[in-house]
Amino acid sequence: MTIQIELRGVNKHYGSFHALKDIDLSIAEGTFVALVGPSGCGKSTLLRSLAGLEKISTGDLKIAGQQMNGVPPRKRDVAMVFQSYALYPHMTVEENLTYSLRIRGVAKAQAKKAAAEVAATTGLSHLLGRYPRELSGGQRQRVAMSRAIIRHPKAFLFDEPLSNLDAALRVHMRKEIRALHDRLHATSVYVTHDQIEAMTMADHVVVMRDGIIEQQGKPLDLYDAPVNKFVAGFIGSPAMNFIPAMVGDDGKTLALDLGTVRGILTVDRTLQPGRKITVGIRPEHIGIAEAGQGSFDVPVAVVESTGFTAFITAATTPELIVVETGRSTVRPGDMVGVRISSDQLHLFDDATGVRV
Ligand SMILES: Nc1ncnc2c1ncn2[C@@H]1O[C@H](COP(=O)(O)OP(=O)(O)OP(=O)(O)O)[C@@H](O)[C@H]1O
Ligand SMILES: [Mg+2]
Repeated sequence: MTIQIELRGVNKHYGSFHALKDIDLSIAEGTFVALVGPSGCGKSTLLRSLAGLEKISTGDLKIAGQQMNGVPPRKRDVAMVFQSYALYPHMTVEENLTYSLRIRGVAKAQAKKAAAEVAATTGLSHLLGRYPRELSGGQRQRVAMSRAIIRHPKAFLFDEPLSNLDAALRVHMRKEIRALHDRLHATSVYVTHDQIEAMTMADHVVVMRDGIIEQQGKPLDLYDAPVNKFVAGFIGSPAMNFIPAMVGDDGKTLALDLGTVRGILTVDRTLQPGRKITVGIRPEHIGIAEAGQGSFDVPVAVVESTGFTAFITAATTPELIVVETGRSTVRPGDMVGVRISSDQLHLFDDATGVRV
C-alpha cells in the first residue's frame, strides 16, 4: 500500500513550548485516520502542520512522496474542513463550491458542472441557490465538505468538523463522512477529542497526549491491548475501572484495595510478590451476582438505566462501575457480588502506568 502522508521525527515548538514531540506517523493512501486526545495535546497543531498552516520546527513531512517542509498550503494539495465551516456568507452554496475552481481559472460552465456533481454526492442539489445563513448546521457542514471534495485533494484534513452539531446530527454526520470517504477512496485525517467518533469512524486511531503519540493502531487493538493506563482510560465508555492492588506472596494473587472493600483475584501468570499494580477492568467485563456469589461484595451507590443496559456504580474508593446488561432490580444500598474473570484484566505498573 502506498504511503500518502509520512512524518518522521516531527517536532513543533511555539517559543519555549514544545507542542509536538518526535512524531512518527505513516498514513497509507485511502486510510481514515483519527487523531484523538485531550484538549491541548497537539491534535490541531499536527493537522495544521500537515496543511502547511504551521511550520514544523524539525523533522520530515512528506505528502505523496514529496518533501513538504516549507511548501506553502496552497501547493500541498490537501483540503481542510473546519468546525466553523468557514463559508463565505455573501455567496450562495454554488458560489461557495465553485470559488476555489474559479480563482484557479476554471471556466464558469465547467465549475458549475463540477458543483452540481459534488452537490449530488453530498445531498445539496436542492440547496445550491441558498446562502449559508439559510442552512442548518448539518447542511453547512456538508457545504464545507463539498468545497473540499470539489478540489480532488490528495488528502482531507478535518478539525473537529462535527463539534457544533447536536448529538443526533453528529451521529448521522459521522456515518455520512465515513461513507463519503469510502466512495471517494480518499485519504482522511480527522481530529476529534471524542474517542467514540475516533473508534467508530477510523481505520487507524492515533492517541495523543502532551505532544506525543501514546499509541496508534486499529481501533479494536487499542481497545483490547492499551499500552498504558492513559490509553486504557481514554478509549472506552464508560471508562475502564482502575483498582489499586498488591501482588501476594505467591506471585499469582492480587489483593485489591477498594477502600473498605477488599477483594482477591488470581492471575494466570507470576508477578513479583509485593509489587504494586493498577488493575484495569472494563465495566462490560464485570458481572453481577447475588451477594456472596461473586469474587467479592460491594455496596451499590448509583444505578443508571439506559433502557437496554444498567450501569451500577459501587460505593467504593475508587468507585467501581459494574455493568448489568439488561434490566436490573438492584437498588442503591444493596450489596451485590462482583464477578470478574481473570482473563479480562489489564495490569499496569502502579508507578509508570505501563502495561505489565
Ligand atoms: N500559536 C501558538 N502559540 C503558542 N502555543 C500554542 C499555539 N497554538 C497552540 N499552542 C499550544 O499548543 C498546544 C497544542 O495545541 P492544539 O491546538 O494543537 O491542541 P488540540 O489538541 O487541538 O486541543 P483542542 O482539543 O482543545 O482543540 C496547546 O497547549 C496550545 O496552548
Ligand atoms: Mg484543536
